[in-house]
Amino acid sequence: MSQTPPSQDELKTLVAHAALKYVVPGEYLGVGTGSTVNKFIDALAASGVAIKGAVSSSLASTNRMKSLGILVIDLALVERISVYIDGADEIDPKGCMIKGGGAALTCEKIVAAQADKFICIADASKNVAVLGAFALPVEVIPMAAPEITRRFKAMGAVAVLRTVNGQTLVTDNGQYLLDVKGLQIADAWSFENTVSQWPGVVTVGVFAHQHAHVCLLGTAQGVQTIVY
Ligand code: A5P
Repeated sequence: MSQTPPSQDELKTLVAHAALKYVVPGEYLGVGTGSTVNKFIDALAASGVAIKGAVSSSLASTNRMKSLGILVIDLALVERISVYIDGADEIDPKGCMIKGGGAALTCEKIVAAQADKFICIADASKNVAVLGAFALPVEVIPMAAPEITRRFKAMGAVAVLRTVNGQTLVTDNGQYLLDVKGLQIADAWSFENTVSQWPGVVTVGVFAHQHAHVCLLGTAQGVQTIVY
């Protein structure tokens, strides 16, 4: 008898619950953004695990956590976080990721940089050999957007300003987002270094320096734990 393979949504639920075992009771926890993280937040609230507080990477996650009774602490009040849990748009064999599909890449990178361990929770569709099929989000200062677009064009890629309901999207930090198609990012570290130095780039959505240490990958066979 053939079984229906789990949906992407079911795989997200699976890894969101699997991430609970990485939560350290009594400590601060870094929490990312996105649909997979939303499931993790729900699971965390239902689990009853008592953390000292959560450090959030977006207004969306902050609001969700507060509505479920999870204490949210400002990152500025916390020196180190042992664990940061977040999703990804793509993850490669070295644990480097593309992030920012939910427009929260800047705060995600800041919180991840203060964490000792990045636990990535992702369904199997996010697992890629080379980063770049997903349009790369780049948060930019608005006045620099045209020049940054030209720089990507010179690399053979196409950058498009992200809009929502016909309006230019403005991030939590008051900036714009470019989504860049046509890239193949084989050396994520060098790509992140290069683009991060372009004037007007706030954050590039390549997470190489802040790569995942562990990926909980949701597959039809269950949760695969990949350590980098
Ligand atoms: C948010 O800005 C992103 O980095 C998300 O972590 C990423 O887009 C994954 O989102 P989903 O869990 O919704 O696929």
